[in-house]
Amino acid sequence: MVATAPAKLILCGEHAVVYGQPAIAVPLPDLRATATVQAGAPHTGLTLAVPDLSPEPIHDPQHPLLALIHATLHTLAAPAAPDLLLTVRSSIPIASGMGSGAAVATALVRAVAQWYGVAMTDAAVSDLVYQSEQRLHGTPSGLDNAVIAYAQPIWFVRQSPAPLIEPIQIGAPLHLVIGDTGIRSETRLPVGAVRQAWQAQPAHYTALFAAVGDIVRQIRTILALPQPELPLLGALLTANQHLLAQIGVSSPALEQLIGTAQAAGARGAKLSGAGWGGIMLALATDSAHAAHIAAALRAAGAVQATPTVVQAHG
Ligand code: PMV
Repeated sequence: MVATAPAKLILCGEHAVVYGQPAIAVPLPDLRATATVQAGAPHTGLTLAVPDLSPEPIHDPQHPLLALIHATLHTLAAPAAPDLLLTVRSSIPIASGMGSGAAVATALVRAVAQWYGVAMTDAAVSDLVYQSEQRLHGTPSGLDNAVIAYAQPIWFVRQSPAPLIEPIQIGAPLHLVIGDTGIRSETRLPVGAVRQAWQAQPAHYTALFAAVGDIVRQIRTILALPQPELPLLGALLTANQHLLAQIGVSSPALEQLIGTAQAAGARGAKLSGAGWGGIMLALATDSAHAAHIAAALRAAGAVQATPTVVQAHG
């Protein structure tokens, strides 16, 4: 039994989303995590193989991915300790803002559900992965697991008792370039720093988050147009970047790639994800322009620069 899940890209609204503002994220279908389930040898219990990370299989029930599999078995009302061999592989860069952890977790949940012949809803998959992300990261907004489980462009608002998750309309294909600084950054570090800054200056940070929210709402409207207004969309993405810099999550390496993309004619550019490293995105006019920006980013030191197209949707 094989299941896969895509990487993700946050288009706008990261960080502010933790404080109740909307965010927009899209799946990246060309980068995927894959999980395989097979029958294990009798009396071996659950075995997890992650050949890309370690030659030794994992048996420790405390391991976050095994804890997730146990939670999935419980949700499915399946036997608690079946003899199963689960293998995960992923082509998604780790700790770079593309959701590799959530994608691996989503593929595992789907593969286990398929093994037991249960059709889980996207919302149920997203919930299980969210619980797993909580065990790892503390207070994630839930955006990563949602966009990856739904595998379509989404509008996300963290709220109680359940987040608002709406598929959004993309009126025309969007040509983006994703540039990777090569600097791995653990999400919880910038997220923790922003929390401390917000606690120290609540009014100031709440205003910055609200300004991000306004931009995200305008971006949603523009994305739905059949002929996107690229100059306006780009200006809004760049305005989001300026606010992220004020929030304190940009970095010299990100700023350098963003400046390079702009010098290469990008309509707009911003960091994507938690910041302090990881990836940035740039808005191009078409595929030739995207290839040009990607080459400029590589020349400026990006370890990877990948043109990607967000297809019209909805
Ligand atoms: O780097 P990522 O993709 O894990 O981005 C985290 C996005 C934040 O908004 C910064 C945190 C969150 O939980 O939404």
